[in-house]
Amino acid sequence: MNCLSEIDLDAPDFGDLYDELPLWSAPFGLLLLDRIPVRPDLTILDIGAGTGFLTLELAQRCGPGSKVIAVDPWNAGMNRLRRKLGHLGLTNVVLLEQDAEALDLPDASIDVIVSNLGINNFNNADAVLRACFRVAKPNAMFFLTTNLVGHMAEFYEVYRATLLELGRSDWLAALDAHISHRGTVDSVGGMLEAAGFNVLHIATDTFRMRFADGSSLLHHYFIRLGFVPAWKSIVMADSLQKTFEILEAKLNAVAATRGELALTIPIACVEACKKTGVTR
Ligand SMILES: C[S@@+](CC[C@H](N)C(=O)[O-])C[C@H]1O[C@@H](n2cnc3c(N)ncnc32)[C@H](O)[C@@H]1O
Repeated sequence: MNCLSEIDLDAPDFGDLYDELPLWSAPFGLLLLDRIPVRPDLTILDIGAGTGFLTLELAQRCGPGSKVIAVDPWNAGMNRLRRKLGHLGLTNVVLLEQDAEALDLPDASIDVIVSNLGINNFNNADAVLRACFRVAKPNAMFFLTTNLVGHMAEFYEVYRATLLELGRSDWLAALDAHISHRGTVDSVGGMLEAAGFNVLHIATDTFRMRFADGSSLLHHYFIRLGFVPAWKSIVMADSLQKTFEILEAKLNAVAATRGELALTIPIACVEACKKTGVTR
């Protein structure tokens, strides 16, 4: 298997057989679950629900009197969630297979909105947040988690050195743009404020992803699924193979010196509420 080969997200068994995303989701979800109100009378909206990692927790923790609406346009993910719901016998979850930019929900109908690792994945995050504002009741709460700038800094340092070794300092701007596309606590909070929400609290944390070396990192299924495509897009196609060979060798050299390759993931849970008297 080549670490540069694409993973086919439309393959019939993709939704059934992948398990790594919920592991990645867990530290973010734990931050959120530590803060979110847990009550039996809530209508909760999970934006970018995926295969339902958070939806299933909230539906069970808040109990059958609550309702959780899981929104995601990803057909294979929704199908998997539908099967889990049947298996678990949960009747308080509604699936909305659609883009959250155009939520098929009434105005002012939701008590709590959650989005675990959604914001980096939305094509138009501002439009999604505006749709959330519309469906939120006055004073509704919003809990949003994301990874922050600083994500995998150890990896990007080696990627930078690789580009310099190749004599491609002209590609550093693309690398920097990719690194800074992740939010900061200020930028994510600012997006929520711009949509009409009032940021009340920001919890931050870090965790580490540890690998034996660069080869195990680059061949790891979840890394190939979640990160390699964007890493590839930084360089021209005809230099891809060479770039990744040097990158892998450099990462392996770092791991040999340090005894492992540990990547830091800074994370945040931003908590906001819908300001009353604001119209959008
Ligand atoms: C990183 S996954 C997170 C899944 C889940 N929340 C979790 O914690 O495991 C991001 C999800 O956002 C979904 N997504 C992307 N764009 C979306 C949009 N415009 N509206 C709703 N969901 C979207 C993707 O299909 C994907 O399932």
